Amino acid sequence: MPKPPKPPAELLEICNRWSESIAGISGDAARMEFFQNELPGFLRDQSLFENLLKNIKAGNPYPDLRQAQMIDDEILLYLNPKRLFSLRMFLYGPGDYTPIHDHNSWGVSGAAVGELGVIRYGREDDGSVEGFAQLLQAAPVYLQPGEIELTRPLNEGIHQTGNPVDGTTIMISVYGSPIRRLYINRFDYKTNKVDRLYPPRFKKKMLAAEALKQLRK
Ligand SMILES: [Fe+2]
Repeated sequence: MPKPPKPPAELLEICNRWSESIAGISGDAARMEFFQNELPGFLRDQSLFENLLKNIKAGNPYPDLRQAQMIDDEILLYLNPKRLFSLRMFLYGPGDYTPIHDHNSWGVSGAAVGELGVIRYGREDDGSVEGFAQLLQAAPVYLQPGEIELTRPLNEGIHQTGNPVDGTTIMISVYGSPIRRLYINRFDYKTNKVDRLYPPRFKKKMLAAEALKQLRK
């Protein structure tokens, strides 16, 4: 694993405080509740986000943009040393949405800049046919800066998030400890297809292992 990025002092102070608190809270529900209370105030800290955006624009070492994440628009801001939670930023251009996906952990997400669109999906099939998923789309939710919403692991949390309007949307998410699954599912609503999305580093390793087998034949 590459070294987790080291945030600037003001952000590190917040993350250290969260780390201390979360270590003393057991259970997913109570940890989610903690971040439900913390995140709205955090999202309204305009100067903190201004500094982060300046860092990104200038190409400063933090946050590390070279660390490829599962979703293209994703930037890792902080990883708790015990993996109890991670803090991530997502940048969405006008009309940009993530693919429809599920999660390996609970999450608390909200907008820091711009409007955030969240489209949730229910899974209608029992998952017994490989590569097939029947989804039902719910009405979209639109969040303003400081407003949050919750995500749950696996089929309970299938959604896509993005920017429903012009300008740029900054989404901030806190995720809990991931379950033992190396991929997330990516869904296609129209074709009912579902496939696995692996972390880019892991996917390259997998493909290299396969290519080696071919070479040896
Ligand atoms: Fe998501």
